[in-house]
Amino acid sequence: MTQELTSPSPAPQAPGPGRGPGWWRDAVIYQVYVRSFADSDGDGVGDLRGARERLPYLRDLGVDAVWLTPFYASPQADGGYDVADYRAVDPLFGNLQDADDLIRTAHDLDLRVIVDIVPNHTSDRHPWFRDPELARQRYVFRPGKGEDGELPPNDWESVFGGPAWTRTDRGDWYLHLFAPEQPDLDWDNPDVHAEFEAVMRFWLDLGVDGFRVDVAHGMVKASGLPDIGHGQQAKLIGNQVLPFFDQDGVHAIHRTWRRLLDGYGDTHGRQVIGVAEAWAPTAERLALYVRPDELHQAFNFRAATLLMLALPGSAYLYQGEELGLPEVTDLPDDVRQDPAFFRGSRAGGQDGFRDGCRVPLPWTGEAPPYGFGAGGSWLPQPADWAPLTVDAQTDDPDSTLELYRTALGLRRRLPGLGDGGMSWQPAPDGVLAFTRPGLLCTVNTLPHDVELPSPGTPLLSSAPVTVNGSVAVLPGDSCIWWAIPTAGR
Ligand code: GLC
Repeated sequence: MTQELTSPSPAPQAPGPGRGPGWWRDAVIYQVYVRSFADSDGDGVGDLRGARERLPYLRDLGVDAVWLTPFYASPQADGGYDVADYRAVDPLFGNLQDADDLIRTAHDLDLRVIVDIVPNHTSDRHPWFRDPELARQRYVFRPGKGEDGELPPNDWESVFGGPAWTRTDRGDWYLHLFAPEQPDLDWDNPDVHAEFEAVMRFWLDLGVDGFRVDVAHGMVKASGLPDIGHGQQAKLIGNQVLPFFDQDGVHAIHRTWRRLLDGYGDTHGRQVIGVAEAWAPTAERLALYVRPDELHQAFNFRAATLLMLALPGSAYLYQGEELGLPEVTDLPDDVRQDPAFFRGSRAGGQDGFRDGCRVPLPWTGEAPPYGFGAGGSWLPQPADWAPLTVDAQTDDPDSTLELYRTALGLRRRLPGLGDGGMSWQPAPDGVLAFTRPGLLCTVNTLPHDVELPSPGTPLLSSAPVTVNGSVAVLPGDSCIWWAIPTAGR
């Protein structure tokens, strides 16, 4: 399935050697859910060409990097997180040339590109899994329990609900911590290590600036695959170390990848990064993934954007949040595609409502598909999204989109805001106040107005703020950035 390229992608306009100060430290990274971002060919499904055509919008929004969700060859049993060929683009999203074009265009616009890598599992259509001999070596197969091996090898449950094991026609069982179409790889096998290193090099050669490592806490399972002892295991994830997640052994893999990334960066004069999606029960255990010799970051979303953007460090935005798009909660069951929906609620897995935040973006116009593409959209868009389109919000000073544009613009313009210092300031109960280079940020966590001595001139606010002489009135549930002299940075 691998597609050939006619020409190699040149290295991006890169910032010095592989281990410089780190472009990623204070970067704003925008997640493009490719299927729902922009559709160039009118089939109702977003694609790489559509995403490339919209890159100027992201540059103007003020982000530093885009993270593309999986666009690899896949039967789409789990939105592309079931990869059948890690080196090919699924025809649904285009081809390898489109990926190459997208990366080049992004670099021309000074945007970096991060792609997903999915190492915990492949698709059950992956050639390794389709070959019974290879499958047994490279995936987690075990004999069943019971007289005829008719019971699963242990009591583990899939994150999406139901047992984490499926029996094959041959009578043995394979592990899938997610959907049955996503068999877990056996990371005790050196071929698996070698393959993922080769896949990373393949995409680095095409010019990507890093990887978002899917389920970076998976891969290594406790030896002997011990029972957990009770059900509803999806609810335990993130609260305790389970024998299938956040095992200490995963860190050796991340160390190897860090060496690969640093080595590649050094050789090619680029900084390329690894970002963990890591579910760990404590902040201390999460921090282990970002030790200096492991991955560069573990990403996080937070709801209160202005507060997040005022804090030191990098920030992740999910597509559509800059438009204030609500989650669509009334999708009919027959249009849903999230595997967790069909398994989850019935079988004790995750809630299964991810489709609601994957509804295609509204760009322009009065009715669906709102400029998403020339055809329809793979999930129906609400009829009342006309006021939320990019066009409708552009130049409206009260819109969410302009709030994001201003906030991201300030983040760029105020030197040191991204990675400079921070100091807490005295504030009334229920209010947080801290200074950053060039600004003071107040967050009123109370549902009602709070008065305080005016800290300066409002630069940006999530709700209308009033300043009466020396007194400022902070509206309830608001975040405000105030201009202050840059001294004290
Ligand atoms: C990650 C992805 C999710 C996917 C899962 C399995 O959690 O965010 O979409 O279903 O990994 O790959």
